[in-house]
Amino acid sequence: MNTMQTTPAARPAPSLEAVRLSKSFLSGVVRVQVLQGLSVALYPGELSLISGPSGCGKSTLLSLMSGLQAPDSGQALALGEDLGRMGARALEKFRLRHTGFVFQGFNLFPALTSLEQVQLPLGYMGLRSAEALRRAQQALDEVGLSHRSHMRPAELSGGEKQRVAIARAMAKAPQLLFADEPTSALDAESGQRVIDILHRAARSHGTTVLCVSHDPRLVRHADRVLGMEDGAIRSDWRQSSAFKEHDE
Ligand SMILES: Nc1ncnc2c1ncn2[C@@H]1O[C@H](COP(=O)(O)OP(=O)(O)OP(=O)(O)O)[C@@H](O)[C@H]1O
Ligand SMILES: [Mg+2]
Repeated sequence: MNTMQTTPAARPAPSLEAVRLSKSFLSGVVRVQVLQGLSVALYPGELSLISGPSGCGKSTLLSLMSGLQAPDSGQALALGEDLGRMGARALEKFRLRHTGFVFQGFNLFPALTSLEQVQLPLGYMGLRSAEALRRAQQALDEVGLSHRSHMRPAELSGGEKQRVAIARAMAKAPQLLFADEPTSALDAESGQRVIDILHRAARSHGTTVLCVSHDPRLVRHADRVLGMEDGAIRSDWRQSSAFKEHDE
């Protein structure tokens, strides 16, 4: 079902755009073409989901769109800026300011409490410690983990760890939030909670959420589902209500 019925004027400018992105990797003596001229535009306030078979290039696309890797050819535009034209320092600054990441494996520091995990990147951003503390507490509250603030990862469940990771990403108030298989290590209930939080980030903060997942529960909650195969987008489905707020 293609429900893209809104007029172009109702749609905001894309916040993330891939323009004929190509990327290959050398595997021994063989060059493997992972992305082949992939183009896609993503919009603020939406949770867009990329699904597709293992090895089709989903994580690679995420890393190109976030400036973690450079494409062989094509452009990755984020918030209107061509990431490939930024110098290394500008790119690092851009990523720190505007992007948040959530991974399957949580990537938390074992020695830090939940509150410290969330505060850490805020310090790198140059926020004063009182402001960092306030924002970190608020982010943990948003994911329902205020009562786990002083616990370390070993004392938390998988779902709680992932919610700390999301709080860490969201405390920066990034315009772009990337999540690679954020629910695949979680049970149904924790996974559902994580999905709700990501969706809320898109809805209430206008964040562009780009999420890679095989999780069928996530498909139902996404505003848009992009089906990827052999390094290209093969299908593009959008919920009819996705752009409602922009029509009003
Ligand atoms: N740094 C790298 N060096 C060499 N090959 C790589 C590299 N990164 C990815 N690849 C290859 O590119 C292809 C796509 O990888 P990618 O991680 O993007 O797939 P994916 O769709 O995320 O898969 P999965 O669902 O299993 O996570 C794979 O064949 C992988 O082996
Ligand atoms: Mg992957």
